Amino acid sequence: MTDFDFNFWCAHQMDWVERSLNHWVSVSVCAGLNHHAPADLMAAMRYAVLDGGKRLRPLLVLAAFEAVSSGPSDWFIPIEEDVDEAARRGGDFESGGGVDETVLRAACAVELIHAYSLVHDDMPCMDNDVLRRGKPTVHAQFGEATALLAGDALQALAFELLTPESPTLIPQRSVLLCRLLARAAGCAGMAGGQAIDLASVGLPLSEFELREMHSLKTGSLLTACVMMGAACGDASLKALDALADFGRTVGLAFQVVDDILDVSSDCVTLGKTVGKDALQDKPTFVSLMGETRARAFTRDLLDRALQALLASGLSDTRALQGLARMVVSRSY
Ligand code: IPE
Ligand code: IPE
Ligand code: MG
Ligand code: MG
Ligand code: MG
Repeated sequence: MTDFDFNFWCAHQMDWVERSLNHWVSVSVCAGLNHHAPADLMAAMRYAVLDGGKRLRPLLVLAAFEAVSSGPSDWFIPIEEDVDEAARRGGDFESGGGVDETVLRAACAVELIHAYSLVHDDMPCMDNDVLRRGKPTVHAQFGEATALLAGDALQALAFELLTPESPTLIPQRSVLLCRLLARAAGCAGMAGGQAIDLASVGLPLSEFELREMHSLKTGSLLTACVMMGAACGDASLKALDALADFGRTVGLAFQVVDDILDVSSDCVTLGKTVGKDALQDKPTFVSLMGETRARAFTRDLLDRALQALLASGLSDTRALQGLARMVVSRSY
């Protein structure tokens, strides 16, 4: 097995993700070359998606794909060469150049759903936040109506990415990816979890109830990332089961860490307002068990996630391992 440099891997994948998002969330792609998109709406969409964010979800998609594929060799094509090639084709970035376009579309589609969820989460009717990724939130910058519509449009665009006009995706795969993403984002997933979150203000939830809420509002989309990456490749049922377990565990850990950072970090590091969970009387793992026990819980979850990878039978899960460690040790 070749040496694996996790930081290099992340930087390389993120470069592709940033370029792809920049391309796909653009007037030419969203509205076509001869059509106009409302400038303010397009600006709000790009503001919500570009220039910020850890890109954990796309990285999970790409890492899961690598784990179920023969290896990362296809990914390590020289980036500049591919971009030049795209430019020669008149900016037809979509047709690839050695990169697996299906997995890149899946990775960006999940990030668009995530970006939309943040725009809506920050609105006055939800968490009423004014700072996100170190910038004013979308509604603070563009107004509530435009923020609402930008979220709507990003959600629609996510599914457009998974159903391209050109036959670049195998139809069955396209359907499966849409289904995985729709289930994870909908009422039995993220939107459902957000509804529970809002309905739980001021309530002392039990650990079981809190796990449920976190698993839905955050865990479902993170699990979908892993399953969508796996769906772009070829995985055994045993591997899929283990990857689902991994996704659920990392997903829960992610939100517990988010709760911890809300009480332990600062606005500059985090890029969002801190201390707001307590201020808004939200039940969190910190309010339930205190910061020390919550931190110990995330370490247990990390162990369990790594065990799930061992049980998967997959030969190379190093990128997934690195991401799980990053989720738990992150400072923002
Ligand atoms: C924040 O997600 C919202 C939660 C689900 C807790 P991230 O912490 O992944 O946000 P970005 O994408 O890095 O800004
Ligand atoms: C948001 O959870 C989860 C989403 C589905 C967006 P939080 O409300 O805790 O996320 P932050 O702390 O605002 O990023
Ligand atoms: Mg919230
Ligand atoms: Mg919030
Ligand atoms: Mg939070």
